[in-house]
Amino acid sequence: MTNKMWGGRFKSGPSAIMEEINASIDYDQRLFNQDIDGSIAHASMLGQTGILTKTDVKKIISGLEEIRKEIDTGKFKFSRQLEDIHLNIENRLKEKIGDAAGRLHTARSRNDQVATDFKLYIRDTIDHLSEQISQLQYALAQKALSFADTVMPGYTHLQSAQPVTFGHHCLAYVEMLARDKSRLQDARKRLNECPLGAAALAGTSFPIDRTHTAKALGFDKPTANSLDSVADRDFVLEALSTASISAIHLSRLAEELVIWSSAEFNFVTLSDKFTTGSSIMPQKRNPDAAELIRAKIGRIIGAFNGLATVMKGLPLAYSKDMQEDKEMAFDALDNFSLALAAMTGMIKDLVPNEEKLHQAAGGGFSTATDLADWLVRVLNMPFRQAHHVTGAIVAKAESQNITLDDLSLSDMQAIEPKITKDVFSVLSVENSVKSRVSYGGTAPTQVRKIAKKWIKSLEKTGIAG
Ligand code: ARG
Repeated sequence: MTNKMWGGRFKSGPSAIMEEINASIDYDQRLFNQDIDGSIAHASMLGQTGILTKTDVKKIISGLEEIRKEIDTGKFKFSRQLEDIHLNIENRLKEKIGDAAGRLHTARSRNDQVATDFKLYIRDTIDHLSEQISQLQYALAQKALSFADTVMPGYTHLQSAQPVTFGHHCLAYVEMLARDKSRLQDARKRLNECPLGAAALAGTSFPIDRTHTAKALGFDKPTANSLDSVADRDFVLEALSTASISAIHLSRLAEELVIWSSAEFNFVTLSDKFTTGSSIMPQKRNPDAAELIRAKIGRIIGAFNGLATVMKGLPLAYSKDMQEDKEMAFDALDNFSLALAAMTGMIKDLVPNEEKLHQAAGGGFSTATDLADWLVRVLNMPFRQAHHVTGAIVAKAESQNITLDDLSLSDMQAIEPKITKDVFSVLSVENSVKSRVSYGGTAPTQVRKIAKKWIKSLEKTGIAG
């Protein structure tokens, strides 16, 4: 070998290179619990159907439980020569119980075994992520309730548009996360069919009971086509695509936190727990956690793209290419989980700067729409004309460098004589948000109602926040 680095590593030649590219045990050992659960269900079914003797089944199951303990307590020796988690466990079972171990693989293949293990893993992960999403929703809904009256600028094009409440802004994310959770639940429903018993690809001639194994593993039913059963990785792709969409939401919120916590905006203060100081600039408090959450989407969407690319050209049924599904999925879903935990912590600790938010909410003539609406409602002006008149009034205020509610009545009347002093009742930011009582609007009364509804329904699901 000319390359010293690799030459050293592969000194035993081609077989070592093969082991390096072929073995998945370094990462698929994470599936040990699912693998053992799957094997126990399979063995007990083989016993029920009389394919194996009860004595063999007993030995197999107690051997597998011992192996679970060995792995749990770090006593198990994983071997790369044995390729993957399935062969590592089977080999250890043979050491423990002898020949009966060899009967476990009756009417089964690693192809349906790995599909079953990974489905179980993704299903557990979906449940865990859903709970984490609920916790983030809970933190956001609590913030929304605490700051239901706090006005802030609402933006379009990142230009101050109309005042909204801080609570309303928080609740926008609660809605996004609700959709993410429902996408996860939807994916869970679809994945919940058991591939075990499809064997290598064609099914088996043994009189197995696939409904038995499906039920034992908490699946709704067995999968209906043996080729599809071992060729399918939709369930991983769906979990990754849902995680990608949700990570987009986290990334947008993270971006807002980065902007809002800057000295220029100063809308919120992030806690010390989720920020770092600069080694050279003592005044700085960098929003590192928010920035990293913003960045996580890169690898999550990368994993989706990666696996989609692996799968797109594969002929039916199983190909070894599919072994590449795991590392990407583990990495992406671990990081998504971490991002959810970090965001939840940041939201819980976040303190809005109410004074600054109020001041900014009044900037940019943000109540101009309220003025136009007043002209429509009180003077019965067509909206297009009201828009025009309001434009002229805004220009006047701008020329005097003052806000709309500081402009004199006579200045307004010079543009539209029918305007009365009643107009001032809609020009303050407080009155502006209070008036937005339409369903889904930003009025504090609405925000409080919706925040309470979320808090109640999330508490019912057992998450305490
Ligand atoms: N380690 C393999 C994987 O993750 C298990 C299935 C192997 N099947 C086979 N026919 N070689 O996909």
